[in-house]
Amino acid sequence: MDFKSRLIHAGLDRDPFTGAAGVPLYLASTFDQRKALSPGYDYTRSGNPTREALERAIADLEGGAAGLAFASGLAAISTILLIFNPGDHLVVSEDVYGGSFRVLTKVFQRWGLGVSFVDAADARAVENALTPATRGLFVESPSNPLLKIADLSFIAGLAKERRLLSIVDNTFATPCLQRPLELGFDVVVHSATKFLNGHSDILAGLAAVRDKELAEKLLYLQNAIGAVLGVQDSWLLLRGLKTLAVRMEASQAGAACLALKLAARPEVKRVYYPGLEGHPGKDIHDRQASGPGAIVSFELESEELTRHFLSRVRLPLVSVSLGGVESILSHPATMSHASMSPEERTERGISPALLRLSVGLENPEDLWADFEQAWRLDAIEPHAS
Ligand SMILES: Cc1ncc(COP(=O)(O)O)c(C=O)c1O
Repeated sequence: MDFKSRLIHAGLDRDPFTGAAGVPLYLASTFDQRKALSPGYDYTRSGNPTREALERAIADLEGGAAGLAFASGLAAISTILLIFNPGDHLVVSEDVYGGSFRVLTKVFQRWGLGVSFVDAADARAVENALTPATRGLFVESPSNPLLKIADLSFIAGLAKERRLLSIVDNTFATPCLQRPLELGFDVVVHSATKFLNGHSDILAGLAAVRDKELAEKLLYLQNAIGAVLGVQDSWLLLRGLKTLAVRMEASQAGAACLALKLAARPEVKRVYYPGLEGHPGKDIHDRQASGPGAIVSFELESEELTRHFLSRVRLPLVSVSLGGVESILSHPATMSHASMSPEERTERGISPALLRLSVGLENPEDLWADFEQAWRLDAIEPHAS
């Protein structure tokens, strides 16, 4: 079936017990085990029919053997990292999401997991960072916030050759545009808070895994840690997921239009968007994904102009997060990547004048008109002495 049809019918498209359109909210923490409607349910941390419908849906959409739903993207990432043992070493994209960087460097390193951060867009750098203790590779493509492209087939192949666990954060592309398990990855993880839910009203994490044995290990950890997604949020996410393809198409069209306009403006020093000719790794992205996505990052010509722009722009939320029906403009240096030191940010090319725009469903012409009024230099207030 086409992906759009799978979005509607993936996993469970109706309640197996009543035939209701959509799986209802099974608001129960516990299930009578003598009269269980279906074998397997005892306690919601270990399994719940609403959450299970969502888990089946993400497994189907990513082409995995199993899916798992977590309380947040970071709960999903942290649970996956618990597969490793103290003393193991991981190679991770250097511009991985700031929260992933924080949990790796402030929690898992303390616990004994070694980490090397590399530019995953440089395939040889990934290979050169491997040590005898390396047990896994964790990458994002396109990455956050510079939309760097990693060659996913190469990385999955390298992992297979060296018997490493390959993990990819697919939050930016979603399975609508890119399905890393089909390229050979072992685990795909999402902040489902973003495009998959699409309405900026819940926090959620989803993962899908290629093989059943690994799925069993992760299900064990998910239950042991208890980082499961609540039933109401599972239901909302199931609902949001159904419109993923139409939302993604519209947001992507808006992003492509705005990226071109931004690239032509003198106030804009640089635009990062995998749909633009000359974007590093565009050819690789075109091979592994079916579209450039709905996130555009751009650097304004000065930090002062950036502050001015952020204070005057009206239509997008000026906020963290992305992937909602509303556009969201972020300032990575003070928001998503604030947990990095200024030196670490500079090393990664995240300047104080960098902005990341998640394009929502507004008419892009309205967003553009707003941008034009927001960066008018003649409106800059003279500095008070
Ligand atoms: C690429 C990426 N991965 C993971 C996360 C963490 O997800 P959550 O905020 O749902 O815990 C985020 C959040 O912004 C993200 O952008």
